This record gives sequence, structure tokens and C-alpha cells, in this order.
Amino acid sequence: MKRILRTLGLLLGLAVVAVVGFGLFVAVRGIPHYDVPAVAAPPAMPTGTPAQLALGGSMVRANCAACHRNPKTNRLSGAPLTDVFPGLGHLYSPNITQDTAHGIAAWTDNELAAVLRTGIGRDGRYRVIMPHFVHLSDADLQAVLAFLHSADPSVQADATPTPAQAPSFLLKILTHTVMKPSPLRPGPRPTPAPTPALAYGQYLVTGRYVCFQCHSQSHETNQELHPEQSAGYLGGGTAFHDRQGRLIHSANITGDQDTGIGDWTPAQLAATLRFGQSPHGPTRSPMPVFSAMTDEEVQGIYAYLQSVPKIKNAIPKDGQPVAAR
Ligand code: HEC
Ligand code: HEC
Repeated sequence: MKRILRTLGLLLGLAVVAVVGFGLFVAVRGIPHYDVPAVAAPPAMPTGTPAQLALGGSMVRANCAACHRNPKTNRLSGAPLTDVFPGLGHLYSPNITQDTAHGIAAWTDNELAAVLRTGIGRDGRYRVIMPHFVHLSDADLQAVLAFLHSADPSVQADATPTPAQAPSFLLKILTHTVMKPSPLRPGPRPTPAPTPALAYGQYLVTGRYVCFQCHSQSHETNQELHPEQSAGYLGGGTAFHDRQGRLIHSANITGDQDTGIGDWTPAQLAATLRFGQSPHGPTRSPMPVFSAMTDEEVQGIYAYLQSVPKIKNAIPKDGQPVAAR
């Protein structure tokens, strides 16, 4: 009996040492570094065609501005991230304007492509919170880069320095366990044609606008490489804070009649996406307003959302289940 107790005590002691050791290691090491992945060079495009810039601008406004826009300068010069869970620390979106000292002027297109696709920065440090655009087509990625290099006012050099990130111990632990860079998928990645609408819609929801990242069960259970395998795929539930700091949840956008958007018309979806006017009232931040979304895009997204497995999941909004709003 005594021996068993002694062995148990020893094991417990070892477990405590291992946990404390891991904690110390994480605390000292901070956010992990990785080898910078070698991304195939996107073709040089110093200016970008008008079509590229229009598409790139629409994607940057929908996908990047929510985090990187500084409301004081109206440029992508970075801002404190107020809508992330406070327990993660004091975090900032960096300055991604064309400024040499504080922006991304020194980043090559390959380095930018690497951080966008995998989350690994040019110095190897893992970039936290930032979504990974794993399934973005090559042409769409080039359009984003062309826009970042363009003459648009929002990306002109701005000398606002980005404060040093102050990640909490919890966030450091997460980056050593569940928050990992996404591996590079072997290319090439073509943009699907607008018809058939279903395949186009799948691309828009998982690649171009990454709707699934916000509209599934949680960020932690999302499967970047295989979006459809994310827990509660498109069934809503990911927690956010709105601009007033209130806890809100993303909506169920599967075709379920009661708790999803099964009873919506394409026109209702279009008004929600383009103007932020859902049949349930105005959509709150961080739901983006996709003001430049084309009819073909809305049709594709509508067809795809109605086709995915329906999930019954009412999200509390103002204390009411979604179905009763
Ligand atoms: C949910 C918020 C969010 C969104 C959306 C987002 N980013 Fe970021 N991004 C961040 C944060 C936060 C960091 C820095 C994280 C860190 O330092 O660990 C970052 C880092 C970067 C960096 C590296 C810059 C540097 O100096 O480290 C680039 C480039 C970048 N983002 C570009 C983009 C582009 C382009 C888009 C849209 C296609 C985008 N981001 C979308 C939050 C976001
Ligand atoms: C950055 C996170 C984020 C992204 C990206 C995002 N959404 Fe949302 N979406 C939300 C949140 C949060 C809400 C809930 C807003 C509210 O309660 O006011 C929402 C609400 C909606 C609604 C309204 C549902 C209702 O019942 O009123 C629809 C429809 C919708 N999103 C579709 C989409 C589609 C389609 C995409 C991609 C093209 C997308 N969203 C991208 C976060 C996001």
C-alpha cells in the first residue's frame, strides 16, 4: 500500500513538474516562431489592372479593413483589437500601409502571400488572431496584393507605429497547442467560374470571403484545410464582442427553416450582405458589409448555403432564440 502511495506521489510530482515546466517554457518562449514557408512567386504586377484593383479593393474592404483600418486616419494603419476576448491580452492589428518604417513596404509579395496563407510572418513569428486565407485562389490573392500596392488612399504610407503585442499567458498557451499555422497546400488554385453557382458559392464561402470562419461553432474547432469538417459548419455560434463591447454570436446560415436562413429569398440575402439589412434588423459588427458584392456572387452564396447540411441551432440574440427574433 505504502509503495503504491509512494509511486502515485512520485507520478503526481512528475506531472506537476511537467506542467510547471511547460508553463515556464511557454512564458519564456512567447509566441512561437516557424520556418518561413516558400510560396511560389506571384507574378510581378506593380500597378494592377482596373479589374484586379476593383476585386482586390472589394476583398480588402470586406476581409481586412474590419481589423486593420484605423478609424482616426481611415487608412489601414492598424488599431487596438477591441472585439477579441479580453483574456487574450492587449493586441493590435499592425500597420499594413505602404510606409517603409511602420508598414509593409519592405515585405516581398512572397512574404505577404506566406503570412496570408499560413499565418507565419517574414520574421518567422506566428501572427495571432489573423485569419488564414488557405483556399483563396491565386488570382484573388494577386488582386489583394495589387490593391495593397495601389494608389488607393487607404493604403498610402502612414507613419503610425504598431505597438508591441502584449499576449496573455493564455494566448501563449493556445499558440503552443491549438492555434497553429496552416500548411501550404500545393497549388495552383484557379478561381471557379460563376456557373455552376453551387461550386462558385462554395469557393466564396470557404475561400474568398471565409464566411465559415465566423459562422461555425468556434474559432478553435474550425478546420482551415477542410472547412466543411469544421464543428457546426455554418450553423453559427462563434462568440464576438460588438462595437459596444456586448457579447454576440454569429448567426446560423444553413438552410434550416426555423433557426437558419431556409425561409429567406435571394433578395433578403442580398440586402443582408450588401447593406447589412437582414430580415431581423441591421447586422452588427463584426459581420462585414460586402457593399461591392456582385449578383453572381450573391446567387452562388445563396445556392451553396441552401445546399449544405442543415443544422438546428438557435443563437441567443437579445435574449431571444434566432427563430423568434
Ligand atoms: C480578425 C482580424 C484580422 C483580419 C480580418 C485580417 N488581419 Fe491581418 N493581422 C491581424 C493581426 C492581429 C495581425 C498581427 C498579429 C501579430 O502580430 O501576432 C495581422 C498581421 C498582418 C500582416 C503582417 C504585418 C506585420 O507587420 O506583422 C499582414 C501583411 C496582414 N495582417 C494583412 C492582412 C490582409 C491583407 C488581410 C485581408 C486579406 C488581413 N490582414 C485580415 C488581424 C487581422
Ligand atoms: C468576421 C466575422 C464574420 C464574417 C467573415 C461573416 N460573418 Fe456573417 N455574421 C457575423 C456575425 C457576428 C453575425 C451576427 C450579427 C448580429 O447578430 O447582428 C452575422 C450575421 C450574418 C447574417 C444575418 C443572419 C440573420 O439571421 O440575421 C447572414 C445572412 C450572414 N452573416 C452571412 C454571411 C456570409 C454569407 C458571409 C460571407 C460572405 C459572412 N456572413 C461573413 C460574422 C461574420
